[in-house]
Amino acid sequence: MATDVSADTVMQRCMLLGGYSEEVGRLTRPFASQAMRQVNEVVASWMQDAGMTVHTDKVGNLIGRYEAQQPGAKTLLLGSHLDSIRDAGKYDGPLGVMVALASIERLHVRGERLTFAIEVIGFADEEGLRYNYAYVGSKAATGTFDLEALEFTDVHGVTMSEAILAFGGNPDADILRTANWQAADLLGYCEVHIEQGPVLEARDLPVGVVSAISGHTRCVLTFEGFAGHAGTVPMAQRQDALCAAAEFVLAVEALARSKTGAVATVGQVTVQPGATNVIPGVVKLSLDVRHPEDTVREELCEQLQDRAERICADRNITLRWQPVQTSRSVPCDPHLAHLFEQAIEKTGYPLLSLPSGAGHDGVPMSSLTGVAMLFVRCAGGISHHPIESVSEQDVAVAIEVLENFLRLLNTETEQRGALKP
Ligand code: HGY
Ligand code: MN
Ligand code: MN
Repeated sequence: MATDVSADTVMQRCMLLGGYSEEVGRLTRPFASQAMRQVNEVVASWMQDAGMTVHTDKVGNLIGRYEAQQPGAKTLLLGSHLDSIRDAGKYDGPLGVMVALASIERLHVRGERLTFAIEVIGFADEEGLRYNYAYVGSKAATGTFDLEALEFTDVHGVTMSEAILAFGGNPDADILRTANWQAADLLGYCEVHIEQGPVLEARDLPVGVVSAISGHTRCVLTFEGFAGHAGTVPMAQRQDALCAAAEFVLAVEALARSKTGAVATVGQVTVQPGATNVIPGVVKLSLDVRHPEDTVREELCEQLQDRAERICADRNITLRWQPVQTSRSVPCDPHLAHLFEQAIEKTGYPLLSLPSGAGHDGVPMSSLTGVAMLFVRCAGGISHHPIESVSEQDVAVAIEVLENFLRLLNTETEQRGALKP
C-alpha cells in the first residue's frame, strides 16, 4: 500500500536504485541491461502500489498511468530516465522519476483523481552510454528514432536491435517511428532533474525553472597513422596517431574556451594496437560539443573539423570525422514554465529561471508536446560523478512544487476542460 510518500522515501529509493549496476563497486546502468531490467521491476511495483497501470514499451521505457476523474481526459506526462553513465551518481535521472511517482502516491493515498490522467515515464536510455546514441527512450517514444542507430554495436558487438529484442522490446522500424501518444491528447511533458551545475547553490535556492535545454553534437573521430617499433622508428619518420589526436584534444579545449557559453569534451579515447612498445597506429575519440545557440555550436563544429584536418595533413595522418547525433536547443514551453513559477511562488521561495547545459529527454519530447523542467540544487553542482548528491530538504521542496503545479494545472483544466478532441 502506498504511504504518504515523503522526501525521505524518495531519497531512500534513489539510494536503493543506485545499487542496481552492471559493474561492481560503481553505478553503471546501460540501456537494456540486466540492471535496467531489475530497476524496471522495482519501480513498476512502486507504481502499481500507487494505483497505476504499468507497462514497458517497444524499447523498454517503463510507463505507469494514473487515470483521470473521467475517461477521455488528456494526459500529462512526467518522468525522467533510469539509465546512467559509467560510475554515475544516484540522482541523475532516478530523482525525477521518484519525485513524479511521489506526486502520484500522494494523490492515491488521498483517493484523489484529477481532471487529467498522468503517465510517469522511466526512460530506458537518455545518456547513450551503450551505443553512444542519446535519447533512445524518448526518441522511440516520440517516433523520432533514427533507424540507422539500430545497427550501432556495443563493445561486445551486440547491435542495438539485438539488445532491444533481448530486453523484450520490438525494434520494428514502423513501430519505432510511431509515437506512443497523439500530440492532441497531451497536456505536456514535465521533468524534475538535478541542476548538474552550480547556479542554484550559488544563489542559495532549492529549485529553479528551466528556460531552455541545450542542443548537442556528438561525433566519433578516427586518426589513422602507421604503427611501428617504438625503439627503431626515428621521431621525424613517425605517423603517430596518438600525437595527432592529442594535439587535437588540446585544440578542442582552446577553441571551446574562445567561444562564450560553449563547451566541448573528448570523453572517450581508444588507442590501437595499444602496446607499450608500439607507435599508435589508430586512435578513435569521441567529441561532444554544446552551446545554447545552435548556430554557434554548428560554427564551432566546423572550426574543430577544419583544425583536425589541418593537424592530420601536417602529420601525414588520415582523418575520419563521423557525426553520430545532433540535437537542437529546445526552449521550454512558456505556459508550463509559468505554472512552475507560480508553483514555486506558493512555497515562498524566490524564482530563478536558468538554461540547462545538460541534455534531457525533454529535447525529443518537445517534438510531440510542450516541455518544462524543474531543477533541484545539487551539492557543488557536481554530477556525472559518484559523489553527486541532493538534500532531503530540497527534495521536499521539489515534491511540494510539483504538487502545487499539478493543482494549478488541474484548476486550469477544470475551467478549460481537459477532454481529448
Ligand atoms: O549528456 C547530457 O547532457 C545528459 O546527461 N545526458
Ligand atoms: Mn539526466
Ligand atoms: Mn546525465
